[in-house]
Amino acid sequence: MLADFIESNYGIHMKEQKKTLLISRLHKILEEMGFDSFTQYFEFLIHDKSGKAVSAFVDKITTNHTYFMREAEHFSYLQDTVLPEIVPKIKGNDLRVWCAASSTGEEPYTLAMIIDEYFGERKCLWDTKILATDISSAVLETAKKGIYKNDAIDSLSKMRKLQYFKKIDTDNSIVIDRIRNEVIYRKFNLMEPEFPFKKKFHVIFCRNVMIYFDAPTKDRLVEKLYDCLEDGGYLFIGHSESINKISTRFKYIRPAVYKK
Ligand SMILES: C[S@@+](CC[C@H](N)C(=O)[O-])C[C@H]1O[C@@H](n2cnc3c(N)ncnc32)[C@H](O)[C@@H]1O
Repeated sequence: MLADFIESNYGIHMKEQKKTLLISRLHKILEEMGFDSFTQYFEFLIHDKSGKAVSAFVDKITTNHTYFMREAEHFSYLQDTVLPEIVPKIKGNDLRVWCAASSTGEEPYTLAMIIDEYFGERKCLWDTKILATDISSAVLETAKKGIYKNDAIDSLSKMRKLQYFKKIDTDNSIVIDRIRNEVIYRKFNLMEPEFPFKKKFHVIFCRNVMIYFDAPTKDRLVEKLYDCLEDGGYLFIGHSESINKISTRFKYIRPAVYKK
């Protein structure tokens, strides 16, 4: 029952191996909230009009693992090939990038650094704001703060660490304001039937979220992503994910990179 609720609302398909993980996460919620059974909790969830219960539930069931420069080839391909190809064709100096399952912020901030490096001094002439969305309010709150353990930024070069972070104490660093202000965070469920964006994107990163979706949900999402990309725009997915080459309108470019 709960697995169906999760799948139909959030697309997250609970494979048998994952069910044990879900059950243990749910036991924790039940304990914290004082419910006696899953049925009781489920009744509470579907009748809660405030949205708070569902939000807390989503925070618990989602897997938010991410890190700076994850699948680093994507970022060098973006910097060395995609941006030089698409930017000269953009009218109105408005580069639109969407990070569609941004988790705790490491991915959109990596994108902001790459874009900053690409534009260099020309950056002030451009609007390069990145839209970063996720279904979990908890990860969005963490992302907005932009504070990370020093260990978490170790995968970045010394130059990037110096240029884009400020130490706040012995253990933590914060993303500098200029980069933090480049990212706009919003809560958004990729299962929404209609995507509300007024303008199309030049680049979409939608990585390591489709692995949780079943094949029809994934195919529908991919086609919606296609529709909200500009012609010639790029979609990046996770390296362990794939797109149905027969049914998609996307052109395959290289592993985990597709073009409209
Ligand atoms: C494993 S993380 C991937 C983060 C990042 N994209 C990366 O590759 O490192 C997956 C993220 O997808 C989010 N997510 C799961 N289902 C979602 C949905 N239906 N709509 C939007 N985000 C979702 C989760 O909350 C989580 O933060």
